[in-house]
Amino acid sequence: MLANAITKFLICNLQFFIYIGKLFSLIIKFVAKFMLMIEQIEEYLAQVDQFNSSNNEEIEQFRIQFNGKKGILNDLFAQFKNVPNEQKKEFGQKINTLKAAVANKLQNLKAATTSQIVSVKEDLTKPGFPLTLGSRHPISLVKNRITEIFKSIGFAVADGPEIEDDWHNFSALNLPEYHPARDMQDTFFIEKNPDVLLRTHTSSVQIRYLENNEPPIRILSPGRVFRNEAISARSHCIFHQIEGLYIDENVSFADLKQTIQYFTTELFGKSKIRMRPSYFPFTEPSAEVDVYWGLNSETDYRITKGTGWLEIMGCGMVDPAVLQNVNIDADKYSGYAFGMGIERIVMLLYQMNDIRMFFDNDVRMLEQFKTS
Ligand code: DAH
Repeated sequence: MLANAITKFLICNLQFFIYIGKLFSLIIKFVAKFMLMIEQIEEYLAQVDQFNSSNNEEIEQFRIQFNGKKGILNDLFAQFKNVPNEQKKEFGQKINTLKAAVANKLQNLKAATTSQIVSVKEDLTKPGFPLTLGSRHPISLVKNRITEIFKSIGFAVADGPEIEDDWHNFSALNLPEYHPARDMQDTFFIEKNPDVLLRTHTSSVQIRYLENNEPPIRILSPGRVFRNEAISARSHCIFHQIEGLYIDENVSFADLKQTIQYFTTELFGKSKIRMRPSYFPFTEPSAEVDVYWGLNSETDYRITKGTGWLEIMGCGMVDPAVLQNVNIDADKYSGYAFGMGIERIVMLLYQMNDIRMFFDNDVRMLEQFKTS
């Protein structure tokens, strides 16, 4: 009876059950489809994350694939309306994440490629900046010229420190303690007792070289020297000297005179010189060398004070006491030395009338010495 009633009920409502079944399968399909889409978006996200390229075409392809009219993002947005209401929120969030990831990726890739393009654009075809040539300082020009002249007759260049001790700057050069050159007014002292000072002349290199070398010796030492003098158009507390020293057997005053005459002829084109007796503690006899400049122009009158003669250096035969100070046999060896100020010679050659110009570092002055 009961069974009958159930069967009847089932048969009457069969249609209804079929509908219910269909509805269920539809819902399951929907949910499954939605799950698949979420998974698909996850895959897209991974794809975006991994994409990298510096090739503009590849980047454009990527952009079209995701952002194009028929691209992935538009497709996903179109499907949004089919998503069941409960899932809309999650789905929407996922698409937006993907959209942001794509935009971010495109921005980064573009920034990287444009910076590359800028750096390439900036350099490829432009001509390079011309190398601006400087000029040698006139002091260096003249120093080099003088060095060349003496090199051509067998002199080598020797160097010494600008900070010296008393022995090399004074004592070994036979400068007695009461000599005015030791006066505080002339010398810049760095320390006293024992004295450390800025060398007042390049003669100190004579001692340094003689201490470490055996005759025959033929050296030239250009360099900076320092004296505590008031700065004016004619004198400066820093200037340059060139020292010469020749020690060998049988060196005579005639050798000295001949060498200097050769030098003045080479440098000034003037061979007429005179040697006036003078005094230097480290030479005996000592002399001052004058070049006959002539009196052909007003300038000649001015620079020679109307005498025609121009003083250019001090010199003399090396005092045997100096040789003894450096343990060189003064009976066997003799020699000559000379020293000259470079600034004076530069001023003479280039007709400059203010020594301060050498140290001002004014390019307008320096540019005049450009060679090309
Ligand atoms: N040292 C000297 C000075 O500064 C110049 C000098 C004179 C150097 C005579 C010498 C020399 O070698 O023999 O005034």
